[in-house]
Amino acid sequence: MTVKVGLLGLGTVGTGTAKILLDPAGRHPLVKAVEIYRVGVRSLDKPRNIDIPPDRLTTDLEAIATDPDVDVVVELIGGLEPARSLILKAIHHGKHVVTANKAVIARYGDEIFDAANEAGVYVLLEAAVGGGIPVIQPLKQALGVNRITAVTGIVNGTTNYILTRMQAEGGDFEPILKDAQRLGYAEADPTADVDGLDAADKIAILASLAFGGRIKLSDVFCEGIRHVSASDIAYAERLGFVIKLLAIARRETCPVSNEALEELQLRVHPTLVPKQHPLASINDVYNAILVEGDPIGQVMFFGPGAGEGPTASAVASDILNIAATLQSQSVAAKAEPQNPLLACTHQHYCQVSPMADIVSRFYVRLVAKDQAGVIGRVGTCFGNHDVSIESVVQIDAHGDIAEVVVVTHEVKEQNFQMALADLQDSVDIQSVPSVLRVL
Ligand code: HSE
Repeated sequence: MTVKVGLLGLGTVGTGTAKILLDPAGRHPLVKAVEIYRVGVRSLDKPRNIDIPPDRLTTDLEAIATDPDVDVVVELIGGLEPARSLILKAIHHGKHVVTANKAVIARYGDEIFDAANEAGVYVLLEAAVGGGIPVIQPLKQALGVNRITAVTGIVNGTTNYILTRMQAEGGDFEPILKDAQRLGYAEADPTADVDGLDAADKIAILASLAFGGRIKLSDVFCEGIRHVSASDIAYAERLGFVIKLLAIARRETCPVSNEALEELQLRVHPTLVPKQHPLASINDVYNAILVEGDPIGQVMFFGPGAGEGPTASAVASDILNIAATLQSQSVAAKAEPQNPLLACTHQHYCQVSPMADIVSRFYVRLVAKDQAGVIGRVGTCFGNHDVSIESVVQIDAHGDIAEVVVVTHEVKEQNFQMALADLQDSVDIQSVPSVLRVL
């Protein structure tokens, strides 16, 4: 049986996917059973570096989503619309869907998976998180028997590239962003990457799979890297940390019994990561996702988080998964029950803790008066709100001004923020240039 694919989009990832499917030698034999039946493009005249018969190309994407002969619609056009509508249309016409579109899944996953379950079709999205890194299927299948306690990832290559260069060169954010844009590592509009929104979409998807519930994207706390400075990176380095944009999904535990609770923490922010932590050595555009669970312990997935080949590898692996399912089923494939390890089986929403209740360590850089008693008063200010200090270092003093870096012990965000507000009001403190969380 040939599995007919309708490809929506023939950009970088679409072309990479077509290259894999058109060149099956040395790959799984099932690749030969997949036919690129129709391809939806914006312009028929654009020169392409892939040999697809012109009669398979069309600008009518809806015709592909509704074509009775297409088995799998592969959505690679990106953006919210018309991607969402085309995915829904394909589902309503009984087609399985493969997508790399994290933005659509993070926002409209509930609508899409409800429709897919009702239609008895699969929506697979390995390429939506971590590019070529297989992490979605492992969470659904190989790790499914574990009780997952945390998923912590470096899931945005652009910001990891920028932070790695800031670390290596001692440079500040803006000039390195500009250079990254010049070199093609950052988009002309870098907002989704540098403000953490891309990572928020991805951790919402990972959390939903790891913790078996739906996630409202608005529940994900999101802070980007624009305010991370060369000084913070240098201070962090001296204290034994590197700064990474982490996406964190963690099941809350009871502080007394240490038992797992129902609530989740969901957050994206620049984080001081101890140099010996497995995520500290993930550099440049690479991604890594550390999954912690019981009884497996820690597993880390590492690899290229973007790019034509890696992302196409993830897309093609989803196509193959569906092809395998269709081949092993009878002709009446769509009447068969869904494989629960491929389908989305949860419908409830996860409960997410408000940020005010999250417990973490903090790094604070203060510009203070270089006078007797200032450090003591800073300590008192923290102490008044039950914030315990792990270390205080005065690294740089010039004139009557000193730069002081404080690292706290674990503290509730709410207490920390109250202490911070008092500090900002204090006559001893000229400014608080940065506040970062510590892993
Ligand atoms: N813009 C993303 C990144 C790649 O920088 O990692 C696509 O998910």
